[in-house]
Amino acid sequence: MQTVTLNNGVQMPILGYGTFQTPPAATEKNVTTAINLGYRSIDTAQVYGTEPGVGAAIANSGRDRDHFFVTTKTQTDGYAATKQGLDDSLTRLGSDYFDLVLIHWPTTHRLDTYRALEDAYQAGKVRAIGLSNFNPSQIDDLLANSHVKPVIDQVETHLFWQQTKLRPYLAAHDIVHEAWAPLGENFGPEMMHLPAVKALAAKYQVTAAQVLLRWLTQQDIVTIPKSTNADHVAANLASLDFSLTPDDIASLRQFDRHHSIKDWPQSMREECY
Ligand SMILES: NC(=O)c1ccc[n+]([C@@H]2O[C@H](COP(=O)([O-])OP(=O)(O)OC[C@H]3O[C@@H](n4cnc5c(N)ncnc54)[C@H](OP(=O)(O)O)[C@@H]3O)[C@@H](O)[C@H]2O)c1
Repeated sequence: MQTVTLNNGVQMPILGYGTFQTPPAATEKNVTTAINLGYRSIDTAQVYGTEPGVGAAIANSGRDRDHFFVTTKTQTDGYAATKQGLDDSLTRLGSDYFDLVLIHWPTTHRLDTYRALEDAYQAGKVRAIGLSNFNPSQIDDLLANSHVKPVIDQVETHLFWQQTKLRPYLAAHDIVHEAWAPLGENFGPEMMHLPAVKALAAKYQVTAAQVLLRWLTQQDIVTIPKSTNADHVAANLASLDFSLTPDDIASLRQFDRHHSIKDWPQSMREECY
């Protein structure tokens, strides 16, 4: 499994398994399928309700905890609530550490929230800490008012919103770019039916979804597609087994709409990225 090196030296798989909108009761089964297919990195969040299922799948996998890279995201705002929330997440996961914890949203008291992540990092409860859905000005503010540099920003990124403004900012600050909704959620079928995407799929004898995922990972964007279909879960991992040419990668830039698939709050709108 190809990895990226985070700015604190921790290695993270370039491709993982997302668990957003996975029914909590089905999570253990779905994550077990992913693990058996070879996934090591699992993305969960306090709000998804999938931490217990992820923990159960890992516990029953027969593999050591350090085989896995588990990310969770806070659903709290402020120091005390976040400190307690992380301890509760560890209990739900059934582990004494997370590999990565992200602030899920740039909430009002995000500097205090981040301080709780820093303390958890210093206490060894998490191997790396980072952000999700933060724009450059929010990251600037956090960098000026914190001690531990965030390792990653997990943001909506796919063919229709390529994050061309955010990417150079993250690279300049040695913060890894991670894509959520790499297949565009409900916009996936529209992307997969584009003639240019279908032509690349035919060229490499792969699926359109595999083209869309490989297009991200070849740009060193950590990618966490979600599927509850075992064939898709396998295909998504196998997207790492072929390579697009630089010209192929460039040819898909024309489809950037610089537009979110979601109805985000103002601070997360396109003009802020
Ligand atoms: N930080 C945040 O705010 C945030 C927000 C959203 C998501 N996330 C994270 O990012 C992960 C991925 O994003 P997402 O779940 O929103 O969307 P996504 O992965 O872009 O899209 C999921 C959709 O793609 C389909 N799909 C997956 N693989 C496919 C394949 N090989 N061929 C055809 N269709 C395929 C799935 O259907 P099937 O199940 O039928 O395959 C599902 O409908 C989430 O699970 C979550 O962990 C984070």
